Amino acid sequence: MSFPIHRLRRLRRSEGLRRLVRETHVRVGDLIAPIFLCDGEGQRQEIPSMPGIYRYSVDAAVEEAKLLYSLKIPAVLLFGVPHERRKDGVGKEAWASDGLVQKALRAMHEQVPGLVLIADTCFCEYTEHGHCGVLNAGKEVQNDRTLENLALTAVSQARSGADLVAPSGMMDGAVQAIRTALDTQGFTDVGIMAYSAKYASAFYGPFRDAADSTPSFGDRRQYQMDFHNIREAVRETELDVEEGADIVMVKPALAYLDVIRAVRESVHVPLAAYNVSGEFSMVKAAAKRGWIDEKRTALEITTGIKRAGADLIITYWAKDLATWLEELPAEPADKKKEAAEAAKRATKVVPAEAPKPPKPPKAPPQAGT
Ligand code: PBG
Repeated sequence: MSFPIHRLRRLRRSEGLRRLVRETHVRVGDLIAPIFLCDGEGQRQEIPSMPGIYRYSVDAAVEEAKLLYSLKIPAVLLFGVPHERRKDGVGKEAWASDGLVQKALRAMHEQVPGLVLIADTCFCEYTEHGHCGVLNAGKEVQNDRTLENLALTAVSQARSGADLVAPSGMMDGAVQAIRTALDTQGFTDVGIMAYSAKYASAFYGPFRDAADSTPSFGDRRQYQMDFHNIREAVRETELDVEEGADIVMVKPALAYLDVIRAVRESVHVPLAAYNVSGEFSMVKAAAKRGWIDEKRTALEITTGIKRAGADLIITYWAKDLATWLEELPAEPADKKKEAAEAAKRATKVVPAEAPKPPKPPKAPPQAGT
């Protein structure tokens, strides 16, 4: 028998009960905070399309990393955004030993020991054309030529202190090329977090503003995945696991929760989900207008990503979440408020029979509702 024996509302009656039976938890330990690096010293430039997110010069980024570590965030993901004049056709700056990511890795490795350092391994922030690899005469990204440069970049990042390298360019064979290069150079302990199922997505818009990496022509649909597909995402992740990925990723997250679930069920390595810039900025923009509650929305989104099956979440809310996740919902205060309001209502003299307001005229049915 179901009702009246079973009443699911019993366990929803108080915050304490709800907490006891909660099925999914986002923990600070699940979070990876992206950090954008720029040239200069003492720089902290707010990114217009991503309120509250900055580009930091290396010295300032180290301070930010210390703060994140003190908030118990276990890992950062580093993106270099070098000055225009250091960009070229292939993105050589990506593997320069004095590149922004390399410098930040060395400084953080020394000054924030214990923080897991992940380096984004891609070229779009380093090429003049903004594509993620080497172009051929027909202006297409050449897969196998790009692999050679990915190997150079990963080794250079490993040498600078990266715990994990994170190839995000969706080149075929990237994981294998990087694994072989790292092992040959003696970096057998440096891991690979592969952006395995990375879709060509409109949700990257604000990031491209942050990373100055909008392609100067065309788009990335020849290498990033078509968002209509899910089986292909499973194949991409399976191949990356075979090639030696230690962690796989689905990106973006919010419109791809089904993909996260499918991948979770088909591979047995940790799964990261990238809660990308557009997913962040659209909430920020709506919150600014008072249309949505940022904190509650961020908690709901990140919990949804975990519930879908992600183990790790890369998110621009990492720092805020470190605080928000520790807070308890303000239930006692709500109760007090409720009681006060009830008392107020009780003292008001309500006419025994309030006149009924006239019925509004019936609105015609609207299309689409
Ligand atoms: C490419 C890269 C991108 C993001 C991370 N790495 C953008 C792209 O493919 O255009 C997007 C991250 C975000 O939107 O938050 N190296």
